Amino acid sequence: MRFFQGCTALVTGASSGLGAEFARQLAPLASRLVLVARRKDRLEELAKDLRRFHPNLDIRIFAADLTSADPRLALADWLTAEKIDINFLINNAGLGDHGEFHSSDWARVQAMLDLNITALTHLSHLLVNRMIVQGRAAILNVSSVAGFFPLPTMSVYSATKAYVTSFSESLAMELRPQGITVTALCPGPVPTEFFEVATRPGDEDRADSFKTCPALVALPFEVVRAGLEAVARDRARVIPNPLLAATVAIGLAIPFFIVRRILAARASNH
Ligand SMILES: NC(=O)c1ccc[n+]([C@@H]2O[C@H](COP(=O)([O-])OP(=O)(O)OC[C@H]3O[C@@H](n4cnc5c(N)ncnc54)[C@H](OP(=O)(O)O)[C@@H]3O)[C@@H](O)[C@H]2O)c1
Repeated sequence: MRFFQGCTALVTGASSGLGAEFARQLAPLASRLVLVARRKDRLEELAKDLRRFHPNLDIRIFAADLTSADPRLALADWLTAEKIDINFLINNAGLGDHGEFHSSDWARVQAMLDLNITALTHLSHLLVNRMIVQGRAAILNVSSVAGFFPLPTMSVYSATKAYVTSFSESLAMELRPQGITVTALCPGPVPTEFFEVATRPGDEDRADSFKTCPALVALPFEVVRAGLEAVARDRARVIPNPLLAATVAIGLAIPFFIVRRILAARASNH
């Protein structure tokens, strides 16, 4: 993990789940962390905790709703004004929506597209040139195994994550000669607030359908560690659970008409 020693990392979605865990695991290594999310109180609480154990770590908080362009531009301007050069960007903020597309709330679908796709792409665009001039930097995009297959009842979410994985892979090839590594972290189910947020109001009885084979579940600590190791090894993509990685490999190897039947049957039980 030498790459992270003394780095300046920006973590989006740091107020809970994987984002907070990225901050915790980077705290003993980084020299500066920039924590971004909407819930400022959560970010402050996390910063307070981290400062207690890492008094030399410079922690900055930027509360912002990343679904809109203006806060993203304000974040980039603030970094410039504060002379903060990010050399590790973790595009982690994301949200899901569980349920059929025809009954979805458009505002929620729009927020998913804006956060999972546009914010991730825009922040990468805003920061990439500043990273290139530093000669060595990394981008870690939190995708999902949901991006490998179309998922009925998570159709928009899985499509956004297909975008994240594809975008990350292209960028990894494009930026390697410039000294920038790009990694797509593709977890399966992780116990965070994600499922609570993805469950539609009044649909709580369907939340159980998220439950999956326990062997496919990974803890935030494991997912983040696998993500950081993948960045350190310059891997373009990582699935942080060997059994899940094998399941995905099998799914991608079998004819798609069979995959389609399996996924459709699974969705009809949800
Ligand atoms: N948990 C899983 O099973 C799982 C599996 C695969 C991939 N992932 C991906 O992992 C990433 C992290 O999710 P998680 O599991 O840690 O879920 P989480 O606990 O719900 O965390 C989501 C984070 O995103 C932030 N966020 C949401 N809307 C935002 C907005 N409009 N502007 C700025 N920040 C916003 C939230 O902070 P605020 O609410 O304070 O803004 C929170 O910090 C996501 O990209 C998710 O798609 C999760």
